[in-house]
Amino acid sequence: MRPGRAFRPWEGSPRLLEVARNERRELWTEAVGDPPPVYGERWTNVGDRRYRLFEPGRSKLAAAVVRGWAGDLPAPGERWLYLGAATGTTASHVADLVGPDGRVYAVERSVRPFARLLALSERWPNLRPILGDARDPLAYSALVPPVDGVYADVAQADQLDIVVKNAELLLTGDGARLLIALKTASMGRHRSATGHRESAEEDLAETAALVPSVPLEPFHKGHFMVGGRWGRSARLPVRESVRPTMPRGRRPGRRAR
Ligand SMILES: C[S@@+](CC[C@H](N)C(=O)[O-])C[C@H]1O[C@@H](n2cnc3c(N)ncnc32)[C@H](O)[C@@H]1O
Repeated sequence: MRPGRAFRPWEGSPRLLEVARNERRELWTEAVGDPPPVYGERWTNVGDRRYRLFEPGRSKLAAAVVRGWAGDLPAPGERWLYLGAATGTTASHVADLVGPDGRVYAVERSVRPFARLLALSERWPNLRPILGDARDPLAYSALVPPVDGVYADVAQADQLDIVVKNAELLLTGDGARLLIALKTASMGRHRSATGHRESAEEDLAETAALVPSVPLEPFHKGHFMVGGRWGRSARLPVRESVRPTMPRGRRPGRRAR
């Protein structure tokens, strides 16, 4: 891949590149670790830098960017707590975004995916895997310093409570970031997906200043990215140029693990 006009860093996120290829737009993160690919993703070189394809069909965070997420993304040098890391598909990209001077504390409670996450951390030096239950942040709080953001993708009925518990204990304070891949199918059948999203926004608005949520369809059915900044009166980022980049005719890829 050659740098050029069709190639630009994403606003506020210098380690995320958007590449226009004919009608399609692709996202790439600058790799912190070494090959081989983490989950079969494509790699490419730009000069002496290595990038990994960040696909909306594989990662809810990539889907949020493609769907026009106007909030902050993890930035170089930051520390993030990642809840529900599974085998590290998205966590590795978050680690790419925070770069070698940042850290991602990745919590996963199931042993099988955790074993792969642990193996990944051996070649992704800024990824710190934690085998633990995100419902009990006190149990791992000694391993996690105050963080600049919490990313959650636990797909549980009490996903919001889990986020708030972790945020209260481990965020640096007001203005720190929340990114929640909200799975409405886990929240019961008594409301529609939109109803669940609205109710989650209402609950979160008691403790956070929210950026407009974005639907993650067609990539992740019934999911929304919800979040913003911790603290009701936190100041939100002003984004003037964010617009959805969903390519025409794009079909959803494989589901994120
Ligand atoms: C949808 S998957 C995560 C996918 C991953 N975030 C990605 O994009 O690569 C949800 C994960 O959350 C984990 N999980 C669910 N409840 C959890 C809890 N209470 N504490 C920690 N992990 C949990 C599950 O074991 C599962 O691996």
